[in-house]
Amino acid sequence: MSQSYHATYQKWQKDPLGFWAEAAEAIDWYKKWDTLLDASEAPIYRWFNGAEVNSCYNALDRHVGNGRSQQLALIYDSPVTNTIQKFTYAELLDQVARFAGVLQQHGAAKGDRVVIYLPMVPEAVIAMLACARIGAIHSVVFGGFAAKELATRIDDAKPKLIVSASCGIEVNRVIPYKPLLDEAIDLATHKPQTCVILQRPQAPASLVEGRDVDWQAAMQQAKPADCVPVAATDPLYILYTSGTTGMPKGVVRDNGGHLVALHWSMKYVYGVQPGDVYWAASDVGWVVGHSYIVYAPLFYGCTTILYEGKPVGTPDPGAFWRVISEHKVNVLFTAPTAFRAIKRDDPDASYLEPYDLSHFRTLFLAGERCDPATLQWAEEKLKVPVIDHWWQTETGWPICANLLGLEQLPIKPGSATVPVPGYDVRILDVYEEEADAGEIGSIVIKLPLPPGCLPTLWHNDEGYKQTYLSNFPGYYSTADAGFKDEDGYLWIMSRTDDIINVAGHRLSTGAMEEVLAAHPDVAECAVIGVADALKGEIPLGTVVLKAGVNRPHDAIIKELVQMVRERIGPVASFKIAAVVERLPKTRSGKVLRGTMKKIADGEAYRVPATIDNPAILAEIAADLAELGYPHQKNE
Ligand code: COA
Ligand code: AMP
Repeated sequence: MSQSYHATYQKWQKDPLGFWAEAAEAIDWYKKWDTLLDASEAPIYRWFNGAEVNSCYNALDRHVGNGRSQQLALIYDSPVTNTIQKFTYAELLDQVARFAGVLQQHGAAKGDRVVIYLPMVPEAVIAMLACARIGAIHSVVFGGFAAKELATRIDDAKPKLIVSASCGIEVNRVIPYKPLLDEAIDLATHKPQTCVILQRPQAPASLVEGRDVDWQAAMQQAKPADCVPVAATDPLYILYTSGTTGMPKGVVRDNGGHLVALHWSMKYVYGVQPGDVYWAASDVGWVVGHSYIVYAPLFYGCTTILYEGKPVGTPDPGAFWRVISEHKVNVLFTAPTAFRAIKRDDPDASYLEPYDLSHFRTLFLAGERCDPATLQWAEEKLKVPVIDHWWQTETGWPICANLLGLEQLPIKPGSATVPVPGYDVRILDVYEEEADAGEIGSIVIKLPLPPGCLPTLWHNDEGYKQTYLSNFPGYYSTADAGFKDEDGYLWIMSRTDDIINVAGHRLSTGAMEEVLAAHPDVAECAVIGVADALKGEIPLGTVVLKAGVNRPHDAIIKELVQMVRERIGPVASFKIAAVVERLPKTRSGKVLRGTMKKIADGEAYRVPATIDNPAILAEIAADLAELGYPHQKNE
């Protein structure tokens, strides 16, 4: 396969529509498009307008019809329950068609929303594909979010049904999900008609009569449902992601563009063949789980792995090596934090020794910038290419990568390599002009975005334009900052908004500030992301107390930590906070979060000319020092 990267990128540049029309030949359509790219409502663009398709058909039915019925489609590997369960394409299709029948029986039809709040069990994949089968729009909510976050998503998506489970399992802790679901439904204004509940033996839940339905019982009576053709431009799913406030953004994914882009990416970005075993060690609640646990591997006829465990502790730092060896994994995709955890617990990779990794070809990392030390450690221990690639929930597939299906370009640790065909990536300086090589600026993508990227936000075209398209007219703003080097490699260095990446999970410090500000003793607050050797970044809160509050600071901090856990969820990893006398601010009253972060990370900083009172910086430094900052940070 040796098409060069540059020739392919130029081919796309010369004829973008021809490029995607050719890629779309790989998909089974009920009806081809009238307009490949509909720009009539630009800057909102629609790919494959007029086409009809079904994502579930392309993930399952067509493979069963094309000789893959007995090939494994899904391997569920759960060290936390000691279970391995395998589904051929025919078996997975049978389960999905039945569950699609359950959804229909309970009133779900094309265009209805279904919220899925499930742990990493096969039923999550089955439920997602069943929605796709009948044209219902799924919205998966990550299990580590608290009831309030779930309620916010229920109110925005207004689901007819919710699919959930009695519990999840975190290493050796059983987390009852059902009470969280019940609380979320209580909190939400919108009430679903039906909840389908998967009872897990670790913690069966009591069902609400008239509303809750038992998954197993429903499946036993279900009649399989056929695929329902939908418009290529119809939404396949909504995935909520952190924005700059407590209100998450409902990223919409369409059916047609998503199919074409993900199918293309499997061959050219990840360099896999149909029949390969592909493992994305993430969670179905995140975009990586949507794109590369569920949809792309199945669109492409691969075997996908669903892993209910952690890189360490389930039971040891050899967990990933066991899975790779046992299921003959060819490609692994995970977040750098997983490798930092393994490296921390087993620096010499001695747990690797007993395992045969001869099938393993490539490790892909994304979700946060991979620090060079971790990348080099993985390369040295695994002796395979380790590819850092960059993308976002919004894009749904990689923006920059080393495209192994074309040719492997030299790896530069710390860089996400080069733009993927379809993406015209530019770096703009403060004057909105293109920055020189090596000069840091805002990273933007020239419109239109390629197929697969969000066409808009759920029921919020204005919000979409305002958030992503208004800062740099003609461009999509990624909210990342970085630079291009002399070779055209992209270096993604930081966010330009208040999003932080904690263990590869995207979180908003603004949302955490909203929680802290709601504490009765807090006058004002700021949350910053500080460097962490394991999780990349973790949140650190600073609060100023209201005058006259003289309760012990420790007690207040404990309450704040608990509030964030209860209102956002344990996934926020909010565990550190300090009570400070004052926050450093500009004369116009803007809190200098960036300067505080630099102090906490031990980085050089300039005292901003606009600062209200420079002496506050020394006070903050002293407060942070008491918490042990600055301490060890990543390269
Ligand atoms: N349901 C309920 N709780 C959850 C949860 C879920 N699905 N997922 C995480 N949590 C909880 C954890 O139990 C933990 O709770 P604690 O504060 O009581 O210990 C908290 O949320 C933070 O979880 P996590 O970020 O996973 O941290 P960890 O310390 O448990 O594990 C790693 C650290 C590095 C091992 C872990 O983050 C990991 O495996 N990362 C892999 C990368 C990944 O999946 N990235 C996703 C995007 S690609
Ligand atoms: P999410 O939407 O959760 O996938 O988070 C997207 C954000 O994670 C991006 O905007 C980046 O800030 C960061 N990110 C993801 N992958 C990378 C990478 N390879 N290098 C640097 N940052 C990354």
